[in-house]
Amino acid sequence: MSAEPVTETTATDAHRRFGSRTLQAVPGAPVDARIMAPDLLYGRLLATAAQHSLGGGPPHEGLLRRADGSLDPLPLDRWLGPVDEADNEVLDRIDGPVLDIGCGPGRHVAALRAAGQSSLGLDLSPVAVSITRGRGADAVLGSVFHDVPRAGSWATALLLDGNIGIGGAPGALLSRARELLAPAGTVLVELDPPGRRTSLSQVRLEAPGVVSEWFAWAHVGVDGIEAVAADAALAPAWTMCAGERWFAALRRP
Ligand SMILES: C[S@@+](CC[C@H](N)C(=O)[O-])C[C@H]1O[C@@H](n2cnc3c(N)ncnc32)[C@H](O)[C@@H]1O
Repeated sequence: MSAEPVTETTATDAHRRFGSRTLQAVPGAPVDARIMAPDLLYGRLLATAAQHSLGGGPPHEGLLRRADGSLDPLPLDRWLGPVDEADNEVLDRIDGPVLDIGCGPGRHVAALRAAGQSSLGLDLSPVAVSITRGRGADAVLGSVFHDVPRAGSWATALLLDGNIGIGGAPGALLSRARELLAPAGTVLVELDPPGRRTSLSQVRLEAPGVVSEWFAWAHVGVDGIEAVAADAALAPAWTMCAGERWFAALRRP
């Protein structure tokens, strides 16, 4: 399998390219680590990071490995922290009720709730859902691709901070998000800056002595969103840059 990300065309194409093949040798990656399901390792790292933020344990040592061997720290402390100015700018522009797809530990739904906006977080990770609820926000456990409460009634669906990557097939993810919206509803999506191409890759989580299984992830740049949105029958309503982050609102006709 190629270590290079591939240019995205369609969700089917992504599936054909990656299928269920398993990446074996990746430059620099540990070879004798225990393998865990991604959501379990993520939950474990998130719990460690949350404990640490309360002054009760060591920092997490979670990393994100890409198929080309490159490695980055997992930004769990950012996800556990409060929203920043850029988040507030975009959240100010949206209508409720709001579904936060892949809410993680819930900073966006917590901010919406504090602002009096009706919102619900949705996440695969029990630890993420529990932390979100602990922040006073509503959240449910589940996948965006399965049953979602009040499907077809949401005014806004959020895909923030990399969540357009969920499932590694942005066209399929946006189509699913569109089904969850009320007529004239909006998907608010965070994107890579101009000049970055749409790409699919395999990634995994790593921590000392343990790695997750590989899973598909995607990146979409602001230049490429119109084409991906069109495949999902969504129309760009506006794009904005706030604090060097890029966002687009995609409207369901
Ligand atoms: C990038 S992190 C969350 C970041 C969070 N939105 C924030 O900005 O703080 C991605 C989240 O998506 C969740 N996730 C991944 N696949 C999912 C799926 N199919 N349905 C719902 N949540 C999913 C993960 O458990 C994880 O919490």
